[in-house]
Amino acid sequence: MTLFRGTFLDTPDDTFAGGLLRTEQDGALLVSDGVIRARGTYTDLRRQHPDDEVVDLTGGFVLPGFVDTHVHFPQVRVIGGLGMPLLDWLEQCALPEEARLADPAYARGVATDFVSGLVGAGTTTALVFGSHFAPAVDTVFAEAARVGLRITSGLVVSDRLIRDDLFTDPDRAREESLALAARWHGVGRARYAVSPRFSLSCTEPLLAACGDVLTSVPGAMLTSHVNENTREVETVEELCGCDYVTSYDRHGLVGSGTVLAHNVHATDTELGLLAERGAAVAHCPSSNAALGSGLFPLARHRAHGVRVAMGSDVGAGTGFSLLKEGLGAYVAQQLLGDQGYPLVPAHLLQLATAAGAEALGMSEEVGDFSVGRRFDAQWIKPAPGTPLDVGLAHADDADDALAKMFALGTPSDVRSVWIEGELVTAPDPHLVA
Ligand code: GUN
Ligand code: ZN
Repeated sequence: MTLFRGTFLDTPDDTFAGGLLRTEQDGALLVSDGVIRARGTYTDLRRQHPDDEVVDLTGGFVLPGFVDTHVHFPQVRVIGGLGMPLLDWLEQCALPEEARLADPAYARGVATDFVSGLVGAGTTTALVFGSHFAPAVDTVFAEAARVGLRITSGLVVSDRLIRDDLFTDPDRAREESLALAARWHGVGRARYAVSPRFSLSCTEPLLAACGDVLTSVPGAMLTSHVNENTREVETVEELCGCDYVTSYDRHGLVGSGTVLAHNVHATDTELGLLAERGAAVAHCPSSNAALGSGLFPLARHRAHGVRVAMGSDVGAGTGFSLLKEGLGAYVAQQLLGDQGYPLVPAHLLQLATAAGAEALGMSEEVGDFSVGRRFDAQWIKPAPGTPLDVGLAHADDADDALAKMFALGTPSDVRSVWIEGELVTAPDPHLVA
């Protein structure tokens, strides 16, 4: 057994329903086989376990590993394509790169960059938008398994209004998706996600094939995009003859295992339907800002009872850090003025951790530091003299420290990351006391 010693922050109680940030100052978590067996003050737990190894994380803060509920594996190398709205950005920036993943050697390099980008940002669980090429999807599952990252991913499918080399057809989509699910779903930490790119690029027969795969793989998730950009929304309504959420729902694709990204331009009817189905929405603030998609109506999602979590949406999103996305979520609500939801730091932590675990149906396993959860954690320990180090040294309390982490923190402040008790970043020689 191992005692992790440090100051632990998490959000086991819903902060949108009165729950507060939980702080264990000079605390300890007792971990065996990757599971948290006990928590308390360091003094108490050390007295009970005098001979166990201690990992000393004092100084800085220990947060639950982040849960990124929307991130594109093939886009890691095109982050930063600014100045275009969604459909132009897809055509000129994202999709040409996605086509390069037809080459398995190229896809392997991208998978390595992608997984190390996530882990380096403190993300330990992710719902990953895969590739249009099945061998590339195998590659990202294999790289995540090698490193230990928890991912849910799948084959991205499209059969209209997309470049020729990314086309599939319903039969091939069904066959390749089922084969990938048979290889990866439930294997280690991997799960399968049925992934129609967006209903703009998917015919009805293709969405029906997605429904077939979803029903024949128990526990599989469904992920896609919805209501991101006004031109996109108009096109979907013309092509499908219904609203955006209904274009998925009429094929049985909207349920409690569904995560739809963006939803910036949702109608009340659509929010009502999402709530009724128990589906979740991935809020992707840096992407919404970079592509000029709009400001996310969080208060309306809350009012309708729609579950919301965070996504980095790399590569329209501008990086892997959910600290940056949390700050972006806060800023977007400020810019909405009276229509905005007044977010506080504990909300941001919940959105980046426990809410993500909830959206992915993994609340029993990850998302906070309660006894019984897997020890998925990140140690935020800025280098001496950096702005975050100065900020943390002068924080009034844990909520203020958390605000400073979201305002100032970057992946370079994430010193170490553990998944199920295993260190997944480079070993730190000073860690073991
Ligand atoms: N809609 C369809 N594909 C994409 C994508 O790759 N990124 C974003 N942000 N929206 C999409
Ligand atoms: Zn996306």
